Amino acid sequence: MTLPKAVRVVEVGPRDGLQNEAATVPTGVKVAFIEKLADAGLKAIEAGAFVSPKWVPQMADSAEVLAGLPRRPGLRYPVLVPNMKGFERAVEAGVEEIAVFGAASESFSQKNINCSIQESLERFRPVCAAAAERGMLVRGYVSCCLGCPYEGEIAPSAVAAVAAELRAMGCYEISLGDTIGTGTPAKARAMVETVAEAVPIRRLALHFHDTYGQALANILACLELGVAVVDSATAGLGGCPYAKGASGNVATEDVVYMLNGLGIETGIDLVALAEAGWFISDALGRDPVSRVSLALRAKAA
Ligand code: HMG
Ligand code: MG
Repeated sequence: MTLPKAVRVVEVGPRDGLQNEAATVPTGVKVAFIEKLADAGLKAIEAGAFVSPKWVPQMADSAEVLAGLPRRPGLRYPVLVPNMKGFERAVEAGVEEIAVFGAASESFSQKNINCSIQESLERFRPVCAAAAERGMLVRGYVSCCLGCPYEGEIAPSAVAAVAAELRAMGCYEISLGDTIGTGTPAKARAMVETVAEAVPIRRLALHFHDTYGQALANILACLELGVAVVDSATAGLGGCPYAKGASGNVATEDVVYMLNGLGIETGIDLVALAEAGWFISDALGRDPVSRVSLALRAKAA
């Protein structure tokens, strides 16, 4: 079993989590949440999305959120960008890192970004080129890597093809999304093995939703292959408005607790992280969707 010595945790709660909330979360609450995440030691916090506010009104205030955030050396706030219009908004907001997001499923691509996979790649190409010119980092997502809400099974080769295209256009890392959380460990491992034939494993990240409670097991199975980047959302926030029934991302607290137990370095203070999770959960008026968070809260009471 080869496990990485350190894992880079990419916090996606303020974007993937809050994009899916029915209630409007005030900008100030988003900023305070992100500050607490930064204080807990997270170095990559996805802070918003420059997508159409008609499609995802929850992310309409992303520029205001970014304007309110503390800038610290080594701390990055990536944002989603679907096209050149989003890129221009990101530049205006002083963003240093963006993420383009494609899919391995045609139907999901149409529902999520209103175009085919091929059209999406053609849209991302100028975005990546313009970002490179400005020295901005670009991350690439592939959704539906372990299943699609509209098409069901997705071939690992379809994931690898999109991942390879994103890597070729300059994405420094490709994040593999189990958008609807239906994957299981052997399937996740097989998918990553296939993608790793096209994109080096050190360029891959795991972005697993926990809808069926498999995310931690899937992550462990893929860490054993040498993947060393994990996306997660504090308090288990998350979901995609265009993937019905998809629940939250794997909780950052659960991931960090597991990594701590494995002796894998993350640089994150678990108690401070849990406090950030309690803050946003209280603001949303519900319990965190994280076993570790609930256990720590019970212990602290
Ligand atoms: P469209 O309607 O095809 O866009 O949407 P369009 O180019 O035809 O433009 C229509 C209107 O939108 C125009 O305005 C544009 O200016 C405006 P109008 O003339 O009607 O007033 N517009 C924009 N406004 C602001 N920012 C922009 C922008 N682009 C166009 N960037 C589009 C296409 C991609 C814009 C739309 O489908 C969209 O915004 N989709 C985003 C969906 C989304 O955010 N989904 C959730 C994130 S993905 C996810 O959660 C999965 C992930 O977590 C990984 C995983 O779990 O698998 C990443
Ligand atoms: Mg997601």
